Amino acid sequence: MRLFHPSAFVLVILSSLVNASVTVYHQIPLAASTTTAASANYTGAAAYDPTVLNPPPVPAGLTTQFGIQLSSSSPSGLSIPQKGSFMGFSIEFSVINQIFGVNATYLQVPFLNLMAILRERAGEILIRVGGNTQETAVLVDSLPGGVMVSKVRGITGDVTSTPMLLYTAEVFYTMANISALVNTKWFLGIPFNDTSNLRLGIAEVGEAVLSGPGYLLGFQVGNEPDLYAAHDARPSTYSPSDYFGEFGTVVSAINNDGNIPVKNNLIVPSITGQWTPESVWNTGLVETYSSSLGALAVEHYPTDNCYALYGIGSPVNPQDVFQNFLTHNSSISIVAPYLNSTSYAQATGKPFIMMETNTASCGGLPGISDTFGATLWALDYGLQMAYSNFSNAMLHVGGQDVYYNHLLRTSSYHEWTIGSVFYSTIAIAEAFGPSGNAQIIDLQANTDSMLTPAYAIYENGTPVRMVLLNYVSDPSGASDYTATISIGGSAIGQGNATPAQIQVKYLVAPSVSEKSNITWAGQTFGGTFQSDGRLMGSESVQTINCDQSSNTCRVSIPAPGAALVFLSSSAYAESGNPSTQTFSTTMVTKTMNTATINPSVLATSNGISGDTWELGSTSKENAGTGLRNSLSIVSVVGAAVLSTGMLCTWFWS
Ligand SMILES: *[C@@H]1O[C@H](CO)[C@@H](O)[C@H](O)[C@H]1NC(C)=O
Ligand SMILES: *[C@@H]1O[C@H](CO)[C@@H](O)[C@H](O)[C@H]1NC(C)=O
Ligand SMILES: *[C@@H]1O[C@H](CO)[C@@H](O)[C@H](O)[C@H]1NC(C)=O
Ligand SMILES: *[C@@H]1O[C@H](CO)[C@@H](O)[C@H](O)[C@H]1NC(C)=O
Repeated sequence: MRLFHPSAFVLVILSSLVNASVTVYHQIPLAASTTTAASANYTGAAAYDPTVLNPPPVPAGLTTQFGIQLSSSSPSGLSIPQKGSFMGFSIEFSVINQIFGVNATYLQVPFLNLMAILRERAGEILIRVGGNTQETAVLVDSLPGGVMVSKVRGITGDVTSTPMLLYTAEVFYTMANISALVNTKWFLGIPFNDTSNLRLGIAEVGEAVLSGPGYLLGFQVGNEPDLYAAHDARPSTYSPSDYFGEFGTVVSAINNDGNIPVKNNLIVPSITGQWTPESVWNTGLVETYSSSLGALAVEHYPTDNCYALYGIGSPVNPQDVFQNFLTHNSSISIVAPYLNSTSYAQATGKPFIMMETNTASCGGLPGISDTFGATLWALDYGLQMAYSNFSNAMLHVGGQDVYYNHLLRTSSYHEWTIGSVFYSTIAIAEAFGPSGNAQIIDLQANTDSMLTPAYAIYENGTPVRMVLLNYVSDPSGASDYTATISIGGSAIGQGNATPAQIQVKYLVAPSVSEKSNITWAGQTFGGTFQSDGRLMGSESVQTINCDQSSNTCRVSIPAPGAALVFLSSSAYAESGNPSTQTFSTTMVTKTMNTATINPSVLATSNGISGDTWELGSTSKENAGTGLRNSLSIVSVVGAAVLSTGMLCTWFWS
């Protein structure tokens, strides 16, 4: 167990809550199930839109039995080594108070719980805070009402009406405190709206607060510069060479700024596809500024809902495009234009990051972005990017007005709705695990069908895990398939290497249209407004006996569904199993509107320890109990400075 970074933490305790231990899940009547028909009249926030689409028709003649032969040593075509933190989050700067909390002292416990789930499996979580709002963000000393972010509308004049954002240094302290609890690491963005009047405060203050403990990964310089002309943020002639010039201005300013000690963590060009990556590489940007660059990045959405939001482009009927997401072809075709660039990035020694992505820009699509179909799509897409040598991929989170939220709270109903693609990030975290040495290959299984893709993950030349997906939505069970897996064997001139047993975790839902009843290894976050960020229910992991004489293991994959197959008990244990530790929260009464984390939870939260994290267990077990016991008897609402623990209190509204 690692102790906290020895900074001081402010402790705020509501004494009446310290020993409470009942978790209350509220069922909010507004929540609609998948039995609800498409609602044309829904006028609430997009994140809770009950629109339900029809799954694509069941295909005729699907192959439901096929073999998968794995090499017992590294096959050619394995990806670069990947981390369990491969898939992180991109959070729009303007909504961080909805997601993180009011300020550094008042953090959102459900958010911490969600991050703890991933930290448990991957060791760390990467988060990019930015988006369109990073460009116009202004660091100020203080804001009215003591808030840390505030939007001023109508200043930027950009067609997406992105508000100008004012924020205080409290944002960085909030990030630091979150990092100390759940090991989040951050990407930020330097405002690029006016490079003749640069605002480098985000780098000066951000690094002062975050880089010491190693929480700051880098700064994007420019967000979607290939859309500047379209958004009236630059002249219509704005080109990659103009971007090259403006980037050079930022590099010089940073090199001349004594308050920015780290000079080599800038990220370019974060383009969306209006410019090809090659058109930027061909300006010589990477070679010219190699010593300033920490990573190369792009952003991409396969479709958009911009017509519905802003009247831009053409209308998209979600029912017409749903099927486009429910095939392996989606991720293959999204990634194809970047393969040359991931190879270029390797040649230039830079990571290549998908800095912002999701199902559809302009907030996602109703009936798609929040469904189990999106869960399967994001899982496949994430694994495909990893196989294609991206180093990381960030799923974008907006506010309540978007459909693709994977973490979200609503202040009026006291509970969070966890978006369906959050399950994908859990599966990916476990598929890669915390070794940092996982290499993945797309097995091109069952090449007859793009509906049943499969991947294998190797570590140190040994196959350790597999992910098998079934995009078909067929409640009859007739489209479930069985993969017969062989490892090594005479067929490929190797010794039989099939284990006696394998373990399988399933990611399932009744339909690709499902929004609530999604389970990962039997556990769920529930539906709209039902979650406090912890998985509910008991975990169920299947053990399958293999036939070592015939060198085969048979795994069946439901339609729809996905399976994470652990090929050895050590591969299983490595992915955060068997103990699952998250923050406990308690909602004592609705009128109090408060949740707390027990300090002992926090004191053990840095290590993947075997301790159970229960609220109100301060008198229990292990090292450091003297301090933690003393916490439980603090009986005033107030602040005390401690060096090894912290108690967060979340005011629900
Ligand atoms: C944090 O937010 C709480 C609740 O709004 C407020 O009471 C407190 O003063 C804030 N702390 C800082 C440092 O702004
Ligand atoms: C955590 O938040 C408190 C309150 O704002 C702040 O004083 C403290 O410095 C923060 N801790 C870190 C590590 O930033
Ligand atoms: C790959 O990228 C490099 C660097 O920009 C470029 O020179 C080359 O033409 C590209 N190849 C293809 C096939 O696009
Ligand atoms: C990924 O990188 C590895 C190592 O350079 C390479 O062997 C492999 O072909 C690359 N994969 C793809 C899909 O480009």
